[in-house]
Amino acid sequence: PDVSSLRAALLDWYDAHARSLPWRAPPGSGMRTDPYRVWLSEVMLQQTTVPHAAPYFERFTARWPTVSNLAAVEDSDLMAAWAGLGYYARARNLLACARAVASEHGGVFPDNEAALLALPGVGAYTAAAVAAIAFDRPANVVDGNVERVMSRLFAVETPLPAARPELKRLAALFVSDERPGDWPQALMDLGSGVCRPKSPSCELCPLAFGCEGLKTGEPARYPLKTKK
Ligand code: ADE
Repeated sequence: PDVSSLRAALLDWYDAHARSLPWRAPPGSGMRTDPYRVWLSEVMLQQTTVPHAAPYFERFTARWPTVSNLAAVEDSDLMAAWAGLGYYARARNLLACARAVASEHGGVFPDNEAALLALPGVGAYTAAAVAAIAFDRPANVVDGNVERVMSRLFAVETPLPAARPELKRLAALFVSDERPGDWPQALMDLGSGVCRPKSPSCELCPLAFGCEGLKTGEPARYPLKTKK
């Protein structure tokens, strides 16, 4: 499939169908979300679903509107507010990162992937997501949704986890200076609403015209997984 026509089709779809989320700027508005809000939402979403994370996100940002406010919280207050999100190591990392941004960066998130990656608890996914979504940088944001979409689009026969580097290379083909912040969000919305794990709605998919997985007749077979 031709990368630029697939890109254009998905961005058009996103303009019409983007989910309205508490941390999201309207698509195509040229508005960007505060990096603190992007970072906080992405950390929360690494371990839970959008509907579960949304009320936590609203409470956190109402109580701690800036990263410096969050940095000043007592550990125990943060842990109490995090209860129900699980995986407390992530809450500890969250606080370590907020404190590093407050003390080492004057309360301002660094605006590029490499500097973001150097923050405590910020891995490749989060650094790329913040660089793209908050700073409109062409970063390759790859999560499970993006892996699934790529594996189907290109009918990748290598099973996970071995396919990861190949899926990341395929995702990188779509990274562009045009709407770099909207692109990963469009892919995530497609992955969660249309290109779903079990029963994809290919009849609603803006990428169906170029999908190799759909051509095989069994798109849901992708991504293949190594049997445990
Ligand atoms: N899942 C993880 N990050 C997301 C985002 N920014 N938008 C929608 N779903 C997501």
